[in-house]
This record gives sequence, C-alpha cells and structure tokens, in this order.
Amino acid sequence: SDHFVIAIDGPAAAGKGTLSRRIAETYGFHHLDTGLTYRATAKALLDAGLPLDDELTAEKMAREVELAGLDRDILSKHEIGEAASKIAVMPSVRRALVEAQRRFSERTPGTVLDGRDIGTVVCPQAPVKLYVTASAEVRARRRFDEIKAKGIAADFAAIFEDVKRRDERDMGRADSPLKPAEDAHLLDTSEMSIEAAFQAAKSVIDAAL
Ligand code: C5P
Repeated sequence: SDHFVIAIDGPAAAGKGTLSRRIAETYGFHHLDTGLTYRATAKALLDAGLPLDDELTAEKMAREVELAGLDRDILSKHEIGEAASKIAVMPSVRRALVEAQRRFSERTPGTVLDGRDIGTVVCPQAPVKLYVTASAEVRARRRFDEIKAKGIAADFAAIFEDVKRRDERDMGRADSPLKPAEDAHLLDTSEMSIEAAFQAAKSVIDAAL
C-alpha cells in the first residue's frame, strides 16, 4: 500500500501528542491530532452560542471542520475540552469526524493519527497501533507541571479530578469508547521519559515498516 498508518490511542494527558509529533517528524509522515477535530466542533458551537446537546446542530458543525486550520493553542482551553468530550458521545458527530479522519489517513507516504478510537474504529487496519497510557495521578501531575511552567496558578486536586472525569466519560460512552485495540502495543509511560517512550514506539514501528 502507498500509505502507512500509525494509530496512537490513549487517555487525556498520556503524552500521545508529543510522541505522535516526534514519530511523524522522524518518518516524514503527516500527523493529525483527532482530539482537535472534536475541540474545533465544540468551539464553533460555543462561539456561535449554540447548544451542546443538539445532535443535528453539532453534526452540521462537525461537517464544516477544516483539518488544515486546526491549532492546539487556540483550542486548548479547558471549557473547549469539556465541551468536546460532551459532543464526542454523539454518534452522528463521530461519524462526520471519522469520515474526515479516514480521508486524512490515506495521505502518502504515511500518517500518524492520535486520539481515542483510531486503532479500534477509524483505522482498524493500521499496521501499527500503540495504546499510550499512564496512571491518572501521573497524567494529572504532568498537566499540573505544564500549567505551572506557563506561570499560571494550578490546583492539583482539581486537575486530578478532571483527568478522572474525562477518563470516565471517554471510557464509558456507548459509541467508540476508549479502549486498546486487541492488536495494540501497550505503552505505559508512568515511569518512562519521553525519550524512552519514543524509543519503545520506534522499535515497534521499525519492525512493521
Ligand atoms: O485529546 P483531547 O483531549 O484534545 O480530546 C478532546 C476530547 O475529544 C476527548 O476527551 C474525547 O472525548 C474526544 N475525542 C474522541 N475521539 C478521538 C479524539 C478525541 O472522542 N479520536
């Protein structure tokens, strides 16, 4: 095949983003952070003052999302993440975004897609699937350190609760719940440096290329 797909899934703040960008750079592949497609849909609804619980409206917004203009800086706000995980339970929103994600995955010479359901739903035929995780406490700690590094006040307990609530919503939904694909390689980064996680991922990819 003329396009090689690397599917990377896992819970919020597990380090998927950093890892995915580094893999895409290393192999010269296109990268899509699929969380941004849910975030962009949610932001469009919030900006237009539209309700988050109307599936038809949310689907319409999802169909208008442009993959080219997605920017994590603009979409990083906490309220947008919360709203994204709410509209992500809607099957027609997911269908619309999954279509766009699948089209992206056909780009040559290869793509890295990261999210929650890439290996299970979006690209079940991907030759490489990684499930990147870390304990909820470690993920909350990383997010806390990130916020503090920006000079912003942060409350660890609140962030920890937030991470756990997001996990529950993502793992508990009926449509495309977060879970490892049966053939995914599990990468628990709780006790790993970014470099060690990258090396582990690289050996899985090199064995499949
Ligand atoms: O990864 P990120 O935190 O930006 O994703 C925001 C929300 O979008 C997630 O909490 C999840 O509910 C949803 N999402 C999803 N499927 C994906 C990517 C993200 O349901 N493939």
